Amino acid sequence: MPDEILDRLDDISSSFHPIPGARSIIVAEPPSDLFKGVIGSYGAITDSPHCIVLIGDMIQQQVQEAVGFHGEGLVLEATANGVDTCWVGGFFREESISSEIDLGEYEKILGVIAVGFASTGKSRTEKVMSGIIGSRRRKEIQKLLYLGSEQPTGWTRHALEAARLAPSAVNRQPWRFRIVGDSIEIFFKNAFASKSISPRLDCGIAMLHLEIGALKAGVKGTWEFPEGEPIARYMLQKQTD
Ligand SMILES: Cc1cc2nc3c(=O)[nH]c(=O)nc-3n(C[C@H](O)[C@H](O)[C@H](O)COP(=O)(O)O)c2cc1C
Repeated sequence: MPDEILDRLDDISSSFHPIPGARSIIVAEPPSDLFKGVIGSYGAITDSPHCIVLIGDMIQQQVQEAVGFHGEGLVLEATANGVDTCWVGGFFREESISSEIDLGEYEKILGVIAVGFASTGKSRTEKVMSGIIGSRRRKEIQKLLYLGSEQPTGWTRHALEAARLAPSAVNRQPWRFRIVGDSIEIFFKNAFASKSISPRLDCGIAMLHLEIGALKAGVKGTWEFPEGEPIARYMLQKQTD
């Protein structure tokens, strides 16, 4: 892996923490049995030259969203630099890596991202570039609107279009969105829940996509985390003249 790409990932790892509760460690040449038995979405994961270990601080309320948001920041940076990635939420061998990681009292490894170059077929990067990922294997926006949502127009349409393309464990796409005025609220559906991967982590991934979609549409907002539901709300910042 070229040093300048590793440096970029290091930067993101140490500086991109918009939601408290997540950190990551980039491990070079991870132990060969870390992904043993894991069949990646794009084939077996072997000889991953690096992996990113995602660590959550379990006493933080938004720990799952924070790990999804932070981890997807690293994935998007890698992808933008032509590097392939695969999120691995459940089937990694924690014991094979734990000797390399110093965990705090309330910390837990919530996921690992394999980073490298896909060996066969179309790489993820090529798929992203050609638009294969996304539209075909993702739910339409209309199916993702939560009860009582306004229809997406303008910036909310761009934001939801980007959020819709987010990856999720077993492609379960647990997120639901409700547009209310100048805000988008996020809910999650518990169906298809895997014991080891929280749907809230998937929602954190979609939240980063949503924010990038909004920025691309020329608007900026801030995240709020209300008590109970929704799990998060993206609120447009008021323009000041
Ligand atoms: C949190 C999370 C955990 C995942 N865990 C695994 C995994 O353990 N093994 C695997 O092969 N893929 C894993 N994936 C990849 C998903 O299966 C993949 O992103 C999803 O099926 C969508 O595929 P696509 O992005 O190629 O359309 C995971 C993805 C996420 C977001």
